[in-house]
Amino acid sequence: MTYETILTETRGAVTLITLNRPKSLNALNSTVLAELTDAFAKFEADGSQLCAVLTGSGDKAFAAGADIKEMSDKPAADFYIEDFFAGWTADIVKKVRKPWIAAVNGFALGGGCELAMMADFIIAADTAKFGQPEIKLGVGPGMGGSQRLTRAVGKSKAMEMCLTGRMMDAEEAERSGLVARIVPLGELVDDAMKTAATIAGMPPLAAMMNKEMVNTAFETTLDQGLIAERRMFQVLTATGDKDEGMAAFVEKRAGNWKGR
Ligand code: CAA
Repeated sequence: MTYETILTETRGAVTLITLNRPKSLNALNSTVLAELTDAFAKFEADGSQLCAVLTGSGDKAFAAGADIKEMSDKPAADFYIEDFFAGWTADIVKKVRKPWIAAVNGFALGGGCELAMMADFIIAADTAKFGQPEIKLGVGPGMGGSQRLTRAVGKSKAMEMCLTGRMMDAEEAERSGLVARIVPLGELVDDAMKTAATIAGMPPLAAMMNKEMVNTAFETTLDQGLIAERRMFQVLTATGDKDEGMAAFVEKRAGNWKGR
C-alpha cells in the first residue's frame, strides 16, 4: 500500500509513523484511518519491530481532530450504517499488542486527543495542547474521548473539557496524568524514539504482557485484575527470556533476548 497521508520509517527496532497532512493540521480522515491501520498491522506483524512512535508532521499539530470537511455533509444514517469511528478502536487499539507511544507535537484536539490517548502513553512537546472541542460543532467525542479522557484525568476535568471545549496545555496535561512527560518541541521525536528504543530493548514478550497487564486495569475489578496479572507473570516465568533475564542479572551482564 502506498501512503498519501502518513509517512513511515524504521530505525532499528522502532517504527516511526508520522501523520502527514500538515495543511489540514493532520486532520484524521478515512484515508488516514486506512493507512494507519495498514502501517500498524505491518508493525505488529514484523518480528524485527518492537515499539512504535506516532507523531504529527509540522510544528503546529499532532492532529486537530477528525476531518470536519469529510463529516460536514455526510448523512446521519451513513455514520450509523458505517459504524463511523469504530475502526480506530477495532483496528488500532485492539489489534496492536506491541507497545507504542504518541509524541504530541502541538494541537491534539477531538480525534487527535483521542488518537493520542489510544497510545500506551503520551510524551508531549512543551507546545502541546489537548482538548475535546466537539461540543462546539454540535456533537461530542466519537473516538473515545469521553471514556479515555475521564479515565486519564478524572470526571471533573474531563467533564469541564467536554462541556466547554477548552484546551489543556502540556503542563496541565502532565499535572493531570494525561501525559507521561513534557520535552521541548525540538527534542520531541528524538526523545520519544529513544524511549521507544529502551522499550524495544526489553524482553519482547514481557513488554507485550506488561502492556496487557496495565490495560487490564481499565477493564476489570481489582480482584480480577490481580488474578490476570498473576497469571501473566506466571506465563512469563515459562519463557526462555525469563531464564536469560535472571541469569544475566546474576552474572552482571546484559540480557540477550529471544522473544520466547
Ligand atoms: N478538520 C478539517 N480541517 C481542519 C481541521 C479539522 N479538524 N482542523 C483544522 N483544519 C484545517 C483548517 O480548515 C485550515 O484549512 P484551510 O487552510 O483550507 O482553511 C487548516 O487546517 C489550518 O487551520 P486554521 O486556519 O483553523 O488554523 P488556526 O491556527 O487558526 O487554528 C485550530 C487552529 C484551533 C486547531 C483550529 O484549526 C480548529 O479549531 N480546528 C478544529 C478543531 C476541532 O474542532 N476538532 C474536533 C473535530 S471533530 C472530532 O474530532 C470528532 C471526534 O470526536 C472524533
